[in-house]
Order: sequence, then C-alpha cells, then structure tokens
Amino acid sequence: MSAGLSNAPLRIGTRTLSDRPVLEKSMQHSIVRECRIGLRTGIPCCRRIACQRQKTIVSMATPAPSTTPKSRILIVDDEKGICDILQMSLQLAGFECLTAYNGDDAVRILETESLDAVITDIRMPGVDGVELVKIAREKHQVDSIVMTAYMKEYTYERIIENGASDFVFKPITPNELIVRLRRVLRERALLADRNRKNLELHAALYELREAYHDTINRLVLAAEYKDENTGDHVMRIGRISALLAEKSGLSRSQVESIFFAAPMHDVGKIGIPDHILLKPGKLTEDEFAVMQQHTTIGGAILANPKAEILRHAREIALTHHERWDGKGYPHGLAGEAIPIGGRIVKLVDVFDALTSVRPYKDPYPVEVAIELIRKDSGTHFDPKLVELFLGLKDEIAEIKKRTCGKQGAPAEFRLSERDQGGNLADMMKSIAAKATLVDAEKKAAAVPAPPV
Ligand SMILES: [Fe+2]
Repeated sequence: MSAGLSNAPLRIGTRTLSDRPVLEKSMQHSIVRECRIGLRTGIPCCRRIACQRQKTIVSMATPAPSTTPKSRILIVDDEKGICDILQMSLQLAGFECLTAYNGDDAVRILETESLDAVITDIRMPGVDGVELVKIAREKHQVDSIVMTAYMKEYTYERIIENGASDFVFKPITPNELIVRLRRVLRERALLADRNRKNLELHAALYELREAYHDTINRLVLAAEYKDENTGDHVMRIGRISALLAEKSGLSRSQVESIFFAAPMHDVGKIGIPDHILLKPGKLTEDEFAVMQQHTTIGGAILANPKAEILRHAREIALTHHERWDGKGYPHGLAGEAIPIGGRIVKLVDVFDALTSVRPYKDPYPVEVAIELIRKDSGTHFDPKLVELFLGLKDEIAEIKKRTCGKQGAPAEFRLSERDQGGNLADMMKSIAAKATLVDAEKKAAAVPAPPV
C-alpha cells in the first residue's frame, strides 16, 4: 500500500470506508465507484475528494478486468462534475472516455468518433438525451445507457423504445453503472459476433450454391456438347422457362427451381448414339424410338435426387415430351397430369429448337415458330401456357436476341429434310406470302401521291 495514505476513515459521498483493509480489498473496483453521483449536494464532495485522491487511487488500483478493454464510451451530461466523476471511474475500470456537456456536442462527437456506447443524461440544452439515444442507435449503431431522475416525464418503456440499451436512476453509483455498461457491451459484442457469423454463413452458403449451380451447368454442357457446342440453347431454356413460370403465377422458389432445372431437360441425350443424335436426315421409326429414350435416360441419371432442383430436373427430363392430348412420350400423360415444369419446358424447347441451328436444319424465323406453337395449342401444348407465351413474345424474342450470338434465321431459309412435305411446308408458304403482301403494302404507303 502507498505510504501516502493516512489511517483516518475515508468518506466519499454518502459512503464511509472505515478502515484500510476494506480499502485494499476494494482496489479492483476503485474507490470512486463507491460514491453516489447525481444529487447536486453530493457532487462537490465527490469531486473534491476524488480529485484529491486521484493520483493515489490510480497508483494503487490494480488493472481493471479486461472484459471490455479500451471500449470507447461517450459520457454526456450538462453537469461537468458528473461527467468528470464518471469519466474517472470508467477510465479506472479500463474504458476510454470522451465527454460532452450538451446534446449538440455529443452529436458532433458521434459524427467523427468511433464509439461503443453513450452514457447520457436526458434533460440537456439542445438535443436532449432521448433524441441523442435515437441518433446514436439509428445513425451510428451505438448503444446507449440513459441516466435520469425524472421518471414522471420519461418512462422506462419510452426510453427503451427510443433505442436505449439500459436505464439508470439518479443518484447512481459508478459501480452499478459499470456493471450495466459491461453487460450492454457484452451483448453488443455477442450481437456483433452473431452478425459476423451470419455474414460468414451467408457467404459460405452463397459459395456453395454457386458451386452447385456451376456443377449443374457443367453437367448440362457435357450432355449438350455433341449437338449444341455453345450452351446458349440451355441458357435460353432456363431463362424463358423461368419467365413463363413467373407469369403462370408459380412461387418465387418454384421459378428459381425451374430456372436451374429446365436446362437439364435433355441430359439423357448423353446416352443416345451419335449417328442418331447428329443425323441430318429424317429419323427412321427405330431411330426415333431410340431418340425417345433420352427422356427415361435423363430420369435415370437424375434418379433419387437429394435436392429440390434435381427433383424438379428429373420431373422435367421425364415429361418434357409429353403432349397435352396424351399422345406424347414416354408415358402418354395428358393435360394437367403432366407436371407444370414439363409443360413449360416442352413449349419453350420446341420454340427454341425451331428458331435455332440444328445439325439437320437452319433456324426458322420467330414468326414461323410462333405460328407453329399457336397451331399446336391444345394438342401438343397446354393452351393456357400458349396464351401466356404469345403475350410474352416480345420479351422472349429479346432473350433470344441477347443469348443468340451470331446465330439467327438466315434471310432465306429452307425447310429441313425432316420437315419437308408436311403441313409445315404449307404453313411456311402461307407465312411467306403474308410477309410479301405486308411488304408490298408498306412500300405502296411510302410512295408519295402524284401531284394533281
Ligand atoms: Fe428432349
């Protein structure tokens, strides 16, 4: 113990520390925490004694517990004496302190300093304590403890609702305040730790999802590699299918699932021999039967799915060649017995296949593809989906344009060998004739009328 201390009883505020052993025991908490602050009559006594003893106390006090080392605290009170006592107490307890004697100065300090908590009086000139608490919480995410003796005007609930983390009545003891402050800072640290872990978790989850989607895309590209070497086709199928799914009123998670699952619809083609898959001419009946197996092969590849997207992908792979009238394959399902994903992808796949290059054909114009889809509404396709699709043709054409690269319908195209001689040939002639007529009408309208 320091030789500078006498054996006389030490009186601080309203408390008496009667003997030296008690004083020694209380060093870890420091002497000034034992005084009571906030009653005007007690302040001069506290301040005087605290100032006189400050050097001795500092030299005798053992280091404060390190639960909140160097947390930065702003003390705000229009009574300088209270600020000084609290500052000294908190510094001895291991905190770094700043002080302000009115709310306006406190707001300025909040703007420029990094703080962990504010301890504030309520009744002050300018910005009052309740407003300060709100600013600290909402603008700077800083916790606050409010001190007041005016319970009639400011209820506990109102102060907490304004964002305070705790509340103390005057007169207060520094000891109580420090206990409350440590609790508030502990909760703040726990919250920050939880937020950091949440962010890490979200980042890890995002990375995992990206890896998952990336793996799916590579599986799709591997399956499409033989007859679709750019991957554009599967990308478009995903986008257009998701658009149609959204307009059909499916939930956000279903739309997202279709976005990722639809590109896997032809994954079973990996099991189809090249001489059939890449044959430029018309398929024989036997070859067509083999080709049809890509649906069940896809179903087998995607069997026993563990994830929702793969479950959806399997359903689509198995059903994207079923027809609304029940004449499709592999199971001859009809109408709404065909899962919505299968119905959507069937329509989108046909549209995209018609308007894209294939080993056996040039791309057909969008108008031709749309006419074909309109014609097959209610037989091949779900009529409600066709109606939606026709309403979205501009948006679909835009997606097609964006993801098409250099590929597009040539100025003069010819029917593929597979499509020769059927209804399609007649329809093409009719569309071409209509286009010629519209062109002629446009040219006629553009010719200025001769002067009379
Ligand atoms: Fe297919």
